[in-house]
Amino acid sequence: MPFLKSAGPKTAILATLIASALLTACSGEGPQTSAIKAIDEDSFQCIRDLTPVRRFFAGNLYGDLDATLTAAKSETGAVYPAGSIIQLVPGEAMVKREAGYSASTNDWEFFELDLSAEGTAIRVRGHEDVVNRFGGNCLECHAQARPEWDMVCELDHGCDPIPINNEMIRALQKTDPRCPPAELTEAESEALALLMQMTAP
Ligand code: HEC
Repeated sequence: MPFLKSAGPKTAILATLIASALLTACSGEGPQTSAIKAIDEDSFQCIRDLTPVRRFFAGNLYGDLDATLTAAKSETGAVYPAGSIIQLVPGEAMVKREAGYSASTNDWEFFELDLSAEGTAIRVRGHEDVVNRFGGNCLECHAQARPEWDMVCELDHGCDPIPINNEMIRALQKTDPRCPPAELTEAESEALALLMQMTAP
């Protein structure tokens, strides 16, 4: 074939160029590949350093905050991208892991955390068996969310409600020991006192 014969060496050079361009493109694929890092106690921080979305806070441990916020702000529901971290209260978190991590939890990993001014310790982590300090299984409740909401409950996605009202949630968010002190309103202080009573052993 005359075309190939004359184009041979050029084709080879071109192929090399394309190959190296592809390699560069792949290694530069940031959030999906090279930025994946271990999720450990250092992944968690003052809840209020995350981005507020309605009642909860959101972030992305792999750096793709925009993708997480796009999912969180969708009005029709969305699958959260890998690396997403969401928290309603400082002591509990959901982190979206890589595809294939756990089909039964839509690849969410649930965390129950112990907090102090020094930082975060992971009390329990996993998918189907994580139980919070009140004996509730995370998945059992969060799986009640209608499918389009990717196991995120909020107030109107189909989950049974939790017995914690707005003021209690705000008070817990404001008293995260890892954050700088924040002032509570009177209603929040009362809500916190009530919550302490409710959860006293
Ligand atoms: C009794 C049911 C129940 C259990 C058990 C439960 N949750 Fe939730 N969770 C809810 C509901 C309902 C909301 C929404 C509440 C609101 O916005 O006021 C929620 C909110 C959240 C949110 C904010 C995003 C969202 O879904 O609205 C996170 C993150 C979360 N829970 C994590 C956990 C983790 C982690 C565990 C286990 C350690 C857990 N939850 C256990 C019912 C539950």
